[in-house]
Amino acid sequence: MVSEYPKALLSGALDLMCRKLLEDEAVIGVGFPYVTAPDGSWRTMLACESAGYTGDAWSHGNWFCGFWVGLLTAAHEHSGKPEFLKLAQERMRLVAQRAGDPNTHDIGFIFWSSARILHRLTKDDAMGQMALKAAERLRARLVTTRSGAYISSWGPLDDPRGRASSAIDTMANIPLLYWASEHSGDASFRLAGQAHAAMTEKAFIRPDGTLYHAVEYDTTSGERIRGYTFQGYSDESSWSRGAGWAVYGYAATAAATGDRRWLDLAIRIAEVWLKELDGRDCPPWDFTDPDPTPTLDSAAAAIMAAALLDIGSLHPDRVEGARWTNKGVSLLTGLASGHLATEQSHRGLLMHGCYSKPHDIGPDAAVMFGDYYFVEAMARLVLPGKLVDKYAPLPG
Ligand code: GLY
Repeated sequence: MVSEYPKALLSGALDLMCRKLLEDEAVIGVGFPYVTAPDGSWRTMLACESAGYTGDAWSHGNWFCGFWVGLLTAAHEHSGKPEFLKLAQERMRLVAQRAGDPNTHDIGFIFWSSARILHRLTKDDAMGQMALKAAERLRARLVTTRSGAYISSWGPLDDPRGRASSAIDTMANIPLLYWASEHSGDASFRLAGQAHAAMTEKAFIRPDGTLYHAVEYDTTSGERIRGYTFQGYSDESSWSRGAGWAVYGYAATAAATGDRRWLDLAIRIAEVWLKELDGRDCPPWDFTDPDPTPTLDSAAAAIMAAALLDIGSLHPDRVEGARWTNKGVSLLTGLASGHLATEQSHRGLLMHGCYSKPHDIGPDAAVMFGDYYFVEAMARLVLPGKLVDKYAPLPG
C-alpha cells in the first residue's frame, strides 16, 4: 500500500538545503555547525572536541559533525551534483579522528550519519572500515551486570560516573551496531544492541509510557539507582526528544532482530507521545513544561517522523502500516510547511529546535541533528533506499 506524501513540498525543502549548504560551506571554515545563534548565524565547533567532565560539569563535545557530512551526502543524492560528494568526503577527513573516541556513545550518531552513508553511496571500503571501528568502540561501552547489559552513554568507562550512566539517546546510537552486525557478519554487535534495548525497556519506561532521559545504574546488580534528566524540565518530566530517540531505536531493533516485541514497544511509546502532542504540528521541548507558550522542539518531531515511517514499513498488517506511515508524513508535512528556515539570514533548515533549554544552548534555534533527522525522514519518501534501508514488514 503506497502512501501519499507532498512530494513538491519535501523536494522544495531539499532544494533549500542544497542551496544553504553551498552558501555555508563557503564561509564556515574548519568548524562544523551545531546550533544557530539568535541572529540566525551558525555557531560552529571543531570536530576534534570529545565529550568529557570538567570537574563535575559534563560536556557532550562535538556529536554533530557527522550530521553535516550526512546532509552533504543527501544533497548529492538529491541534486546529482558531484561537488556535494567532494565536500562530504573532505569533511569526512576531519571527522575521521573521532572513530576511536572512548568517551562517548555519540560515536554512534557521528558515524551512522557520515561514514556509513558514504560507504553506502561510494562502496569505499575505507568508509566501511571507519564505521566499523566506531561500532567496535560503541560495543566496547557495554557494561554487563547481574541483570542485563547496557551501553554506557557519557564519559570514559574508567570514570564511575560515566560507567553508571545511560541516556535514552543511546537507543538512536545502537542502529550503528545493527549495521555493523550485517556489514561484518559478527552477531555480537547485534546482541549488544539488543541487550541495551532490553535493559532500557526495564529501566527507562515509566508505568504511564513516558520515559526518563537518563538512568544511573548500580553497575553490579543492574538495578536503577535513579532516573533523572540532563536536558529536560525535571527528573520526572517527559522530554519530547527522548521519546523520538527511543521509538527510532526500538524500530531499528525490531528490524535487526525480526522480533515483533520491539515493534509493539515502539508503537506503545509513539502512541503516548502522539497523545501528548495532541494534534499540534510540533511538540514543546518538554511536555511537562507548564509555560502556556513553551519553547518548541522541531528536532523531536523530525526524529519521531523518521521513526513513525519505520513503524509503517515494519508493520506486518499493511493497513496498520499505512496508518503509521501517514502519521509520519503528517509530522513531516507540518514541519515543512510551518517550520522551514526560509529567511536568508536564518541558517539551517528547520527553525524551532531546542538543543538544551536548561543549559541555554540553542533554545529556539536550528539544531544540526534536527536538520539531519528531518532530511533522513524525508529521504525515506523522496530518496528511498539512498540514506537508509527501507525496513521490510515483520512476519505477521
Ligand atoms: N544528546 C542527544 C540529544 O541532545 O538529544
